[in-house]
Amino acid sequence: MEIRAYKDKQEVAREFSEFLVERIASHKNYNVALSGGSTPKIVFDYLAQHYADIPWGNVHFYWGDERCVSPTDADSNYKMTLDHLLSKISIPKENIHRVLGENDPEGEAKRYGQLLVEKLKTANGIPQFDLVILGMGSDGHTASIFPHEIELWDSEKNCVVAIHPDSGQRRVSLTGRVINNAKEVAFLVTGADKKEKVTSILAKDGASKNYPASLVDPKSGKLYWFMDEAAKGA
Ligand code: 6PG
Repeated sequence: MEIRAYKDKQEVAREFSEFLVERIASHKNYNVALSGGSTPKIVFDYLAQHYADIPWGNVHFYWGDERCVSPTDADSNYKMTLDHLLSKISIPKENIHRVLGENDPEGEAKRYGQLLVEKLKTANGIPQFDLVILGMGSDGHTASIFPHEIELWDSEKNCVVAIHPDSGQRRVSLTGRVINNAKEVAFLVTGADKKEKVTSILAKDGASKNYPASLVDPKSGKLYWFMDEAAKGA
């Protein structure tokens, strides 16, 4: 595990963008699972502004989780990515593999899980991303696996339907088997509201096992935490 801590969100966005761009430029067919949330949004803005001309055709984008809403809804992770990145770069349509949030959630979780089997190479009998990008909520959730449904992490399926604890919104999420099978996993975590859970997870204290983010432990050993000082704490 590698902790990369920076002064503020903007610096996290810049450093993570460089990390990602290096990988995209040097791999044909680089498969990435994206996350929703506020930190990726500023990463996407940074990429659109500074790296619009890299060989985006090398990359295939998937999502680690999606809200079960239409792709034009303000809550859609796909829409956020479209607005902040995809509409500003040149990338073939066939390289974008969105979760169809407008469809029946259970059917979509099954379809997307199967799509991963068809599109990605497998390792350990499980589809393998080159990179999974994750956020962490202030409750310790990651992707859309929340503490009240932490058992979904260990599902035998590639994708499950999860429920947001407050809004009841349904979401399609990757599970631990796919996330921990990735070649590399990167957390993007910023803001002081994350500090308590970050401290607990990094210390592996007693409470940490209740937080889905503590279960991120790729078999490859390649886990990066990109954080700002506010999230990391002293
Ligand atoms: C989502 C996410 C989610 C997010 C965290 C952190 O779709 O809601 O993928 O897991 O990454 O909630 O979000 P922030 O970056 O906004 O703190």
